[in-house]
Amino acid sequence: MAPHAPLIVPSVLPADAARLGEEVEALCAAGVDRIQWDVMDGVFVPNLTFGPDVIAAARRHSTVGFEAHLMVVEPDKLLGRYIDAGCELVIVHAEATTHLHRTLHRIRELGARSGVALNPHTPVSVVENVLDETDMVLAMTVNPGFGGQAYIPAVEAKVRRLRAMVEESGLPIEIEVDGGITDATIGGAAAAGADVFISGSWLYSFPAGKSAAVQLLRDQARAAMGSFPVAVGGGAA
Ligand code: DX5
Repeated sequence: MAPHAPLIVPSVLPADAARLGEEVEALCAAGVDRIQWDVMDGVFVPNLTFGPDVIAAARRHSTVGFEAHLMVVEPDKLLGRYIDAGCELVIVHAEATTHLHRTLHRIRELGARSGVALNPHTPVSVVENVLDETDMVLAMTVNPGFGGQAYIPAVEAKVRRLRAMVEESGLPIEIEVDGGITDATIGGAAAAGADVFISGSWLYSFPAGKSAAVQLLRDQARAAMGSFPVAVGGGAA
């Protein structure tokens, strides 16, 4: 499937943890398409962040869907907790799963959509045998664990390979990028074939506010997608 219209999905990581309900409401008012919760266990990545109860408490403040990016060593143990907390999409790291096919299948069995994240060093070949169990592939454009890091342009080549793989499969799989996404970097990722964009620190620090930041990112992604090479199989981008 060709890329769909760009989705702008903020990371809650930079939000004021003392006012998460209001912060979620503000993101919804800014016109975001979904909200991503960066879940970190202090082992897979050095940082420690949101438990399921925190997300459940924020759920009633949101008019958009939640996705959980599980940067944890044993995601299988946590799938049900984050889905019960209100996450409609759960992303596990390929590097943290022994049986990725089974984990992705389990996420769907539990009623959510499944996502698999690839760290910058992880090749796309890791997902080639699980595409039929996958709703979204996340190509990390930074090494996970912290917001505010520099975008890694080399990942764009990986995104291009992912897009070709998804086109070849004919499956409606989203390609998401996460880390260092700004008005200056989103175009390269979109032109490479990404259609879902996570932004945290840049979006939160944009001087004209979150609505303007979301609109600028969406406009930049749309403009770049226009240059997207015709998808494998001839479908327009
Ligand atoms: C890294 C996190 C970040 C965050 C967005 O583990 O996943 O990528 O979501 O970070 P920035 O601030 O770079 O947009």
